[in-house]
Amino acid sequence: MPKHLVTSALPYINGIKHLGNLVGSLLPADVYARFLRLEGEDVLFICATDEHGTPAELSALEQHLSVEAYCETMYQRQSAVFRQFGLSFDHFGRTSSPHNHELTQRIYNSLCRNGFIVERPIRQVYAVEEGRFLPDRYIVGTCPHCGYDGARGDQCEQCTALLDPVDLLHPRSAVSGSDALEIRSTNHLFLRLDLLSDDVRRWVESHEDWSRLTKSIAFKWLDEGLRERCISRDLHWGVRVPREGFDDKVFYVWFDAPIGYIGATKEWASHDPARRDWRDWWWNAPDVRYTQFLGKDNVPFHTVFFPAMLLGTGEPWTMAGEIKSFNWLNYYGGKFSTSQKRGIFLDDALALFDPDIWRYFLLANAPEADDVSFTWEVFASVVNKDLVGIFGNFVNRTLKLSVAQFGSTVPDGGVWTDREAALVQACQTVIDAYRSHLRNLEYRKAIQSLRQLWSLGNVYLDHAAPWNLVRTERDEAAMVLRTAINLIALFAHAAEPIIPFTSNKVYDELNLTVDERSSWIAGEIDLTCYSAGRTFHVPEPLFRRIDKDEIGALAMRFSGQAKASSD
Ligand code: 2FM
Ligand code: ZN
Repeated sequence: MPKHLVTSALPYINGIKHLGNLVGSLLPADVYARFLRLEGEDVLFICATDEHGTPAELSALEQHLSVEAYCETMYQRQSAVFRQFGLSFDHFGRTSSPHNHELTQRIYNSLCRNGFIVERPIRQVYAVEEGRFLPDRYIVGTCPHCGYDGARGDQCEQCTALLDPVDLLHPRSAVSGSDALEIRSTNHLFLRLDLLSDDVRRWVESHEDWSRLTKSIAFKWLDEGLRERCISRDLHWGVRVPREGFDDKVFYVWFDAPIGYIGATKEWASHDPARRDWRDWWWNAPDVRYTQFLGKDNVPFHTVFFPAMLLGTGEPWTMAGEIKSFNWLNYYGGKFSTSQKRGIFLDDALALFDPDIWRYFLLANAPEADDVSFTWEVFASVVNKDLVGIFGNFVNRTLKLSVAQFGSTVPDGGVWTDREAALVQACQTVIDAYRSHLRNLEYRKAIQSLRQLWSLGNVYLDHAAPWNLVRTERDEAAMVLRTAINLIALFAHAAEPIIPFTSNKVYDELNLTVDERSSWIAGEIDLTCYSAGRTFHVPEPLFRRIDKDEIGALAMRFSGQAKASSD
């Protein structure tokens, strides 16, 4: 049996993440890890904050904090939010950890030894008063296209035009405001992607089963021809380059970030001597099946750049077997954006609705085949129809009627009919499909199956009509309600990878034992295991309906305007 290594793209440290980040990698990775664990597989789910590079330095500057202090604070905030969303990482590390620094330098040394690193002079902007070279983002000025005064040296945030610092009118340092800038020559390191292109292509071609999105982006890059890429930067915050003359430089953030997957595993292993060696997952480990989750902007780095780095070492690193990539979740016509503070950020989302509401909604609308637009109307309609109308309603009506007629124990009496045998069959068919969708990382289809499974409960109740049977066939009514209570447990088990908090609430209400809680839907369905006489509580409704006024108020509050306090 393979071991499963699961990683989600590493969220940048700057700012609380938004719903687009959640649905584009973190959440589907979590559902997959939870699913595999329930299936009894050996799973390691790893994530970390991506901490280096200019955005962290600039955010720290804005907040008058050292970059170390800024990253520490944001790491704690991000960890807390992800925990509240139920993201079940085995380890949530940091790319600034010593493990990652050491691994990054080691991989660089191997690439050097194999002739894939070259040093070349390039012309860079030098800030005379600060006595340092400035990376592109540290230079601001007026955009030559739209006249925006705060355009950065790499891109204008207002009109999105890609820029070179020399394009800017009235350029100045973003750090000091000084306009005493000069162009000077300085040496940098380049990764010879051109020499690694054939190896990368062969590796990509060996994964025919990747999705169209992943493959099309990978081949677009490969077909355009890979050029050597600069992997060093004139910064202090980052992984030091172990090379003479590079004391003032660090590695480019995209060089050390993916190595962060390995670094975080090493950190996880180092925390507890009883844990396995990180090499069991990353080094000479043919029994590891590695699945990566990421948004489409990250695909080139995971199908070309990172694989080239690993292949170039000539060492037996674990490489991705599956890359599940996602399109964008848009917010009323624009991309969710941390830098522009547009959209719904995870702390706000949690203050509004329970995490399971978001988890279910986002997966039901996962941007798998295309970009998806978030609207409050669709959000409310999914919550009201599926969670309130189907699952919540089934739980509520079953337990309420049962208590009213038979008290708060599972009712006794009656024998199964063909109807119950057919119900088991129908559930089995849907559950088989559901499990196979989850295994194949087809989230929308999985949610459709889950919804279909829950609907079988309401159809069963409508058909058997225990509210009528209680008057004429009391024993049969008891049997129907007992079967329906068993269905509640089955539905909660099935839903656990998607809405784990709700499943646990249902387990509490039904007084499930520790063993029963950890049961899963892989075996033969048993709709008799919660037997007569067991006690249960009638829960408050599991979900609440979102009405028109609330939708209007939410749409107004998040009307796509800038959000003041996300970072
Ligand atoms: O796009 C992002 O949010 C990046 N921080 C993802 C990095 S993924 C990995 F390679 F580190
Ligand atoms: Zn512009």
